[in-house]
Amino acid sequence: MDVQPVEYRRDGFEISTDPRHLDIDVIFNFLAHDSYWAKNIPLEIVQKSIRNSLCFGVYADSSETDHRVQVGFARVMTDCATFAYLADVFILPEFRGRGLGKWLVECILAHPDLQHLRSFMLATSDAHGLYAGFGFKPLAQPEKFMQKRVENPYGPGSAAR
Ligand SMILES: CC(C)(COP(=O)(O)OP(=O)(O)OC[C@H]1O[C@@H](n2cnc3c(N)ncnc32)[C@H](O)[C@@H]1OP(=O)(O)O)[C@@H](O)C(=O)NCCC(=O)NCCS
Repeated sequence: MDVQPVEYRRDGFEISTDPRHLDIDVIFNFLAHDSYWAKNIPLEIVQKSIRNSLCFGVYADSSETDHRVQVGFARVMTDCATFAYLADVFILPEFRGRGLGKWLVECILAHPDLQHLRSFMLATSDAHGLYAGFGFKPLAQPEKFMQKRVENPYGPGSAAR
């Protein structure tokens, strides 16, 4: 996406929207093997989704390798003016429970190109509490919304939401 990269730093971690820093192996491995919503997603589809989204990488400074190591991710599908949809949010298991997920959502909502939107949407199976803290609520008028849904988009056993 054609927006200026933004970076945030805190306690040895960094959140960046610069797509050049993204580690496609980390993102693909989590989504294809460990996520409940994109099981078996092909690499080419992950790559294409990243190319066409505003992506947020979460990185740990590594003293051993002297460069950043990706530990989390989220992407936003948006026109940067009226609407955004948050998806593919994860923090790797060994880095969970120390506030990175909350910080990631905070940075996403603070992004300069995601202000004054009419609607910011997401879907989650069990992380409602994470998003509720930032003002997300269940659909006020679910009867107005429609969805065209593919049950097993990436073969038997994969799941859509
Ligand atoms: C959800 C996830 C990103 C949270 O990351 P994290 O770094 O562990 O989160 P934090 O340490 O910032 O804490 C998250 C807060 O949300 C709350 N929460 C609510 N539902 C949660 C859930 N399903 N998982 C994790 N935290 C949840 C936690 O209790 C915590 O609040 P607290 O600090 O008041 O106790 C991480 O657990 C993850 O990657 N899970 C697997 C992928 C996933 O489910 N992604 C969300 C798809 S919508």
